[in-house]
Amino acid sequence: VPAVAIVVAAGSGSRLGADVPKALVELDGVPMVRRCLDALADGGVTSVVVTVPASYEARFQEALSGSPVPFRTVVGGARRQDSVRLGAEALAAGNPADAVVLVHDAARPLVPSGVVAHVSRAVAAGAGAVVPAVPVIDSIRELDDLGSRVVERSRLRAVQTPQGFRLGTLLAAHRHVEAEGIEVTDDAGAAEAIGHAVTLVPGHRDAMKITEPVDMVLAHAILAGRK
Ligand code: CTP
Ligand code: MG
Repeated sequence: VPAVAIVVAAGSGSRLGADVPKALVELDGVPMVRRCLDALADGGVTSVVVTVPASYEARFQEALSGSPVPFRTVVGGARRQDSVRLGAEALAAGNPADAVVLVHDAARPLVPSGVVAHVSRAVAAGAGAVVPAVPVIDSIRELDDLGSRVVERSRLRAVQTPQGFRLGTLLAAHRHVEAEGIEVTDDAGAAEAIGHAVTLVPGHRDAMKITEPVDMVLAHAILAGRK
């Protein structure tokens, strides 16, 4: 299923602590953001908007030269949700409202192309908001005023990206949360705020988010296992 995509890469990566924005950090010599475009292209994405930190457009253009898919960069916003909204506005200029759009974190460079394709297919099949999700491994306790209580783990899922929508849905959702001052942690949450149901599809361990230095060790191990 053909789709367009927003790769959000405008964060600084403060927890990773590299001397460049996280999306420019290389894994085996390839910047994370470039790995994302490779995976998205393999999964059927035909054009991409990349949100980048202010004053880094040239660095991202360079990191993405030779991309298998056409892309353009736009400067992101203060919060992730602002970056997604700005990316969606940029895509709205050249794409119809019913285009399938995927929103992907640059910090998930090893997402399998099969997950990408699965998300697009689910949107094309009629789902309003699609989220790849994986079971939670840790036991979880929820805090309350009296202390804490165990949460039934089998009912929990950790959400990943890419998340999929129709472009019109994504734009309306992000314009709504912006106008209402609602904070969301993911894009499906914004779609839910305008009444869309969320469809879960299987995620994959390799779509893990690189957040802290130790995550780079796991990412290198995943790459080594692919060779
Ligand atoms: N992101 C973005 N715009 C922002 C904040 C985050 O485009 N204002 C992107 C990041 O570049 C990343 C994704 O959203 O690809 C997920 O965010 P996270 O993992 O938190 O990355 P950072 O915000 O860069 O890292 P940190 O929170 O450690 O500073
Ligand atoms: Mg962040």
